[in-house]
Amino acid sequence: MPRGAAFVEHGGYPVPMRVVVTGGAGFIGSHFVRRLAARGDAVVVLDKLTYAGNLANLEGVEHELVVGDIADPVSVSEATQGCDAIVNFAAETHVDRSLLGPQEFVQTNVLGTMCLLDAARKGGARFVQVSTDEVYGDLESGQRAAETDPLRPSSPYSAAKAGGDLQVLAYSRTYGVRASITRGANTYGPYQYPEKLVPLFATNALEGEPLPVYGDGNQVREWLHAEDHCAGIDLVLLEGAPGEIYNIGGEDHANIEVTHRILELTGTDQSLIRYVEDRAGHDRRYAVDDTKLRALGWAPAHSFGEGGLPTTVAWYRDNRAWWEPIKSGAYRAYYEEQYADRLKA
Ligand code: NAD
Ligand code: DAU
Repeated sequence: MPRGAAFVEHGGYPVPMRVVVTGGAGFIGSHFVRRLAARGDAVVVLDKLTYAGNLANLEGVEHELVVGDIADPVSVSEATQGCDAIVNFAAETHVDRSLLGPQEFVQTNVLGTMCLLDAARKGGARFVQVSTDEVYGDLESGQRAAETDPLRPSSPYSAAKAGGDLQVLAYSRTYGVRASITRGANTYGPYQYPEKLVPLFATNALEGEPLPVYGDGNQVREWLHAEDHCAGIDLVLLEGAPGEIYNIGGEDHANIEVTHRILELTGTDQSLIRYVEDRAGHDRRYAVDDTKLRALGWAPAHSFGEGGLPTTVAWYRDNRAWWEPIKSGAYRAYYEEQYADRLKA
C-alpha cells in the first residue's frame, strides 16, 4: 500500500501533504519535521522559539518557518493557511519549570491548543495533539494506564496538558474536528534540551559535574526513543481514528538505573551522584498500555539499553558544539535556581 493511502481513506487529504508542525524547533518536533521532510511532505514549522526552541535542530532539513505563538490567532492563521494537517508539539514541557511558574503552561498548553483547534475547525485540517503519559498520574507497580482511564495529573505541567486534551476531545465531538491524541512516554534522543534527565546527566557527566538525583532515585519512567515516538505519532496522523486516544509506551527503568548506565557510558565515576531534595509532588511511576497503537502496526525499533541510550550518549559526546552554547547564559540562571541550594544541602 503506498504511504498515506490509509490517511487518504480516513481523511480524504492529498498525499504528499502540507503539514503544520507546531513546536517543530524543539526536541521531538524537530525529529518529526525531519521524518516528514524526508518523505516529501511540505512542512511548515510554527514555533515561538522559547528557550527550548532551537533552529540548529532543523539544520539541513527542508521546511518553511513561521515564528509565532500558537496562542496568537494571526500567527496561527498565517501558518495553517491551506494545510492538510496540524500536529501540535508546541508546549511548555518541563515539570520543574512548571513548579516555578505555572501560568505560562496554561497559556500555551491549554489556550494555545484551543487556538490551533479553532484553525482546524475553520480550515477542516486533520489534527493530532501530542500529549503525555503524565496525564494519568502515577501508578502502582504492575498497573498500566489505558486510554480510557481517568486523568489524575499531579503537576501544573501535566494538569495543563490534560486541559489541552479535554479541549481536543470537546472540539472533536462538538465541532467534528478530525482530532486524535497521542500520549507518549518519557522520550530521549539527540537534540533534547539539557534540562531533562538524560541530556542533563549525560552532559554533566561529560563535564565532570554532579548528577542531582531527586529523592531515592527509585522513580520509574518508561523510556521511548524520539524516533519511535515520532513513528507512533505519524501512524496516528495517517491511520488513527478521529476522537480517539493512543498511548505510546517505552521500556521501564528506575532513574537510578539510568543514572548508573550514563556514568558507565561516559566512563565517569559514581562519586558524581548526588542524592538531592525531591521534586514537589513527584510521581513515582508511569506506565501505559499501548496495545491500541500496536494493533495499528506500531512497534519500537530502539532498545533502550542496547542501542538507544548508548547511541544517544555518544551523540552528546560528539556534539558538544550543539549543547555547550545552550548551557550558558539564561540556562545558568535556571540551573542555579533549580539546583544550587539542593547541591549545597
Ligand atoms: P521541547 O520543550 O523540547 O520543545 C517545545 C517547543 O515548543 C520549542 O521549540 C518551543 O519553542 C515551542 N513552543 C513553546 N511554547 C510555544 C508557543 N506558545 N507557541 C509556539 N511554539 C511554542 O518539547 P519536547 O520535549 O520536544 O515535547 C514536545 C511535545 O511532546 C510536548 O507537547 C510535550 O508535552 C510532549 N511530550 C514530551 C515528552 C518528553 O519526554 N519530552 C513525552 C511525551 C510527550
Ligand atoms: O512522561 C512524559 C514526560 O516526560 C513528558 O510529558 C515531559 O514533557 C518530559 O519532561 C518528561 O517528564 P519527567 O518529569 O518525567 O522528565 P524529567 O527528565 O524532568 O525527569 C525524569 C525523571 O528524573 C523524574 O522522575 C525526575 C528525575 N530527575 C530529573 C531531573 C531533571 C532527577 O532525579 N534529577 C533531575 O535533575
